[in-house]
Amino acid sequence: MLAHPAEPGQKGDMNTPFRNHPLRPRRSLLSVPASNARALEKSSTLACDGIIFDLEDSVAPESKAAARGALTRHFADIDRASPVERIIRINSLSGSDGPADLEAVLACGPDAVLLPKVCEPQDVLAVADWFAEQGADDSPRLWAMIETPSAALNLAAIAEAGRTSGGRLDCLVVGLNDLRLATGIADVPGRPFLVPFLMQVVVAARASGLDVIDSVHNGFTDLGAFSAECEQGRQMGFDGKMLIHPAQIEPANRAYGVQDAAADEARAIVSAFARPENTGKGAVNLDGRMVERLHLDQAERLLAKVELIARKENRT
Ligand code: COA
Ligand code: MG
Repeated sequence: MLAHPAEPGQKGDMNTPFRNHPLRPRRSLLSVPASNARALEKSSTLACDGIIFDLEDSVAPESKAAARGALTRHFADIDRASPVERIIRINSLSGSDGPADLEAVLACGPDAVLLPKVCEPQDVLAVADWFAEQGADDSPRLWAMIETPSAALNLAAIAEAGRTSGGRLDCLVVGLNDLRLATGIADVPGRPFLVPFLMQVVVAARASGLDVIDSVHNGFTDLGAFSAECEQGRQMGFDGKMLIHPAQIEPANRAYGVQDAAADEARAIVSAFARPENTGKGAVNLDGRMVERLHLDQAERLLAKVELIARKENRT
C-alpha cells in the first residue's frame, strides 16, 4: 500500500517533522473564564504560550451571553502581533449557546476554536464544514477536547478526522474532570488508572500528526504536585498542559521547555552529522553512542523549539 501523502512520522519540511502544521510552543495554555473581567484583563500580561478563553464549563449558564459580549470587546483591543496563541472554547453545538459562540468566534478571529466533549469524528467535521461555508481560510484551526468515554473509544477516528476536515484539526486536549465524572475513575496522585488512556491519546494524536495537551490539575496552590504531574505528562509525550491559574504558568513552561543539557546534546548531534566524514552516513558515533538520522530530525525540531521560545521570551 502506498504511504499517505502527508504521513505523520515521515520527515516533512524542516519546520514540521512529525506534524501536519507549523511548530508552535504549547507548553502552557491558560484557561480564562470569559465571564471574569479581571482574569480577561490580566491574561494579556501573562507569560503563557496560549490562552484558552472559556465560554463553556467555567461560565454559568446565565452569564453565557454576557461572556460572549465581553470576549468580543476583549478581542477588539488585543495586540495581534503578540506571539501568544489565542483559543476560544465554545459550548456544545447541541444547545443554543454553541451556535452563538461560533458567531462570536467569527467576530473575534482567534487562532483556534476548542470544541468541548468531542465524541466522534462528525463533531469535528461538522464545524470544519461550517467554517468552510462561511468562507473561512485556514484559520481558525480546530482543537478537540477529549473528555468523554465515547471519545476514549473513538480516539483514532477523531484524530484522523483532522485530515479529512481539510487538515483543520491541530490539537487534542485531554479533559480529566469530565472523564472522571462520567466514569468514576478516582483522582489520585500519579493518575495510575488513567495512564493507559493518556498514552492512547498521545499515540492517536501522533498517528495523525496532531499536538496533544495534558489535562488541567485542579490543586493550584500545591505547585509541587503540579510540577510532578507536568513532568509525568512530558515523559508521556505531551506537548504541554492546560492550566487554570497564573501560578501554574512558570512550572509548566519549565517542565515542557527545553533543558540546557538537551539543547547542548541536540547541537552536538547536528554538528556530528555536519562533519564532512559523516556525509551520507545513516548512523554515527557521538562520544561512544550511536546516533541515527532520526535523532538528527528530533534534534532539529528541538532546536527550532528553543528558537521559538527564545523569540517569544525576548518579546515579552
Ligand atoms: N486567568 C487569569 N487570571 C487569573 C486566573 C485565570 N484563570 N485565575 C486567577 N487569576 C488571577 C486573579 O484574577 C487574581 O488576579 P489579581 O490578584 O491580579 O487581581 C490572581 O490571579 C490571583 O488569583 P487567586 O485569588 O489566587 O484565585 P481566585 O480565587 O480568584 O480564582 C479560580 C481561583 C480557580 C476560581 C480561578 O483561578 C479560575 O477561574 N480558573 C480558571 C477556571 C477555568 O477556566 N475552568 C475551566 C477549565 S477546567
Ligand atoms: Mg469539560
